[in-house]
This record gives sequence, C-alpha cells and structure tokens, in this order.
Amino acid sequence: VVDSRIMKIASAIRVIPDFPKPGIMFQDITTLLLEPKLFKDTIDLFVERYQGKNIAVVAGIEARGFIFGPPIALAIGAKFVPMRKPKKLPGEVISEEYSLEYGTDCIEMHVGAVQEGERALVIDDLIATGGTLAAALKLLDRVGVEVVECACLIELPELKGRDRLGARPLFVLVKAD
Ligand code: PRP
Repeated sequence: VVDSRIMKIASAIRVIPDFPKPGIMFQDITTLLLEPKLFKDTIDLFVERYQGKNIAVVAGIEARGFIFGPPIALAIGAKFVPMRKPKKLPGEVISEEYSLEYGTDCIEMHVGAVQEGERALVIDDLIATGGTLAAALKLLDRVGVEVVECACLIELPELKGRDRLGARPLFVLVKAD
C-alpha cells in the first residue's frame, strides 16, 4: 500500500532538464519546500519510521540533507550532525574521499560530534551513483557509529547507487527515472 502522501510529494518535486549540465534531469526539491503541508508530510513520513528506534544521531549530507535532517532530528530527539564538503567546518575534522566521474570529492565531519556505538540515521535528498552516501557510511564506520539506515527522498534506481551501500538498508520515498 503506497501512502497517499507520497504521490503528492513526488508530484511537488520539479524536474529541470539539462541542469547543471546537458543530459542531467535535476530533481529540484525546492518546489516541495514551497508547500508547507507536503514538506511536513515528508518530515512526518521519516519521523514515523524512525521515532522510538533509539537513534542518537541524524547525520545530514550537504547541502539538502541540511534541510530535511534537522526537523527529523528534533522530532525524534536526536542530535543533528552536518557532513560537509571540504574546508567548510572550522574545527578538527575527519574526512573521507570518494571518486567522481572526473576527479574526487570529499566529505567531512567534526571530530567529537559523534561517539562510538551511537546509532545513526544518514539523510540526504537524493541518491544517484551512491558515491556520496557510501563515503558518509565509511566515515561513520571509522568512528564506530552504527548506521541504522540511510534515508533519501529520491532514488535514481537506474544508477544502482543502492548497490554501493553494501548491506546497509536504504529507505526512499520516491523512485525517479
Ligand atoms: C547531490 C545530492 C547528493 C549527491 C548524490 O548533491 O544532493 O548529495 O548529489 O549523488 P551521488 O549518489 O552520485 O553521490 P550535489 O553534488 O548536487 O551537491 P550539493 O548538495 O552541495 O548541491
């Protein structure tokens, strides 16, 4: 049974062709944010799934994981930890590099933001190749955090990003093609 909220959420996500480069169909969640009821439904769907699961950490991935992560963290009584692009965090960081189509990127987190053994949820707006989430998982593994699940609004199943997460469960609201 598909939750009726999910179809409305899916239709509020705007697709912009050829952004940021030709051939990319950009999934734009900013139009969803313009509809308070649907934005709230989105947060509620995640909260309903994760509340009472003893999750201590919601780790949000820059940039759009910073939009959806904090309201979920507040609702389930978890702390919010930003996982950022390089050279953005001012304190001591732990980093994980990952490869892109051309070159490499890197994700960073503050040392001391999480404690060994804490249970975490990792949130982002979208999984494409899965490179970003896989790097986030590696980083959290290195500090001994137990990632319970990754959660995204949108999955692009054709890119098989899910396969890069190993045995780690991935929960998504919407599959796009
Ligand atoms: C997008 C998206 C994810 C990542 C997914 O971010 O928000 O974070 O790409 O791609 P992947 O599964 O292939 O790794 P983007 O690179 O647009 O950066 P931004 O959020 O800082 O704009």
